[in-house]
Amino acid sequence: MTHPASPPFFIARVGDDGTQCDAWPEQPLLLSLEQGGIDWPSSCRNGTCRTCIGVLEAGEVRYRVDWPGLTPEEHAEGCVLPCVAYPASDVTLAPQSI
Ligand code: FES
Repeated sequence: MTHPASPPFFIARVGDDGTQCDAWPEQPLLLSLEQGGIDWPSSCRNGTCRTCIGVLEAGEVRYRVDWPGLTPEEHAEGCVLPCVAYPASDVTLAPQSI
């Protein structure tokens, strides 16, 4: 898959071991993680099952669905659903601790 020339893309960092990948603003974060060879859980890929939930430790994301399957509390805690979240800056993502 090719991307348009002169890409404005961001960097997605995952965890604290230096793992990172390019994060394209026009595609869901989950896709960028997968293209970057990063293993991230997913299932429905449309923002409802919550399998892919993670915590946004830094940066910003946008959603194109009205309200992804997160509670207001989770939203306030920085939880994100990468399958429907589009990066709006460099981001740092951590798996949700259980
Ligand atoms: S994969 Fe189901 S909510 Fe993201």
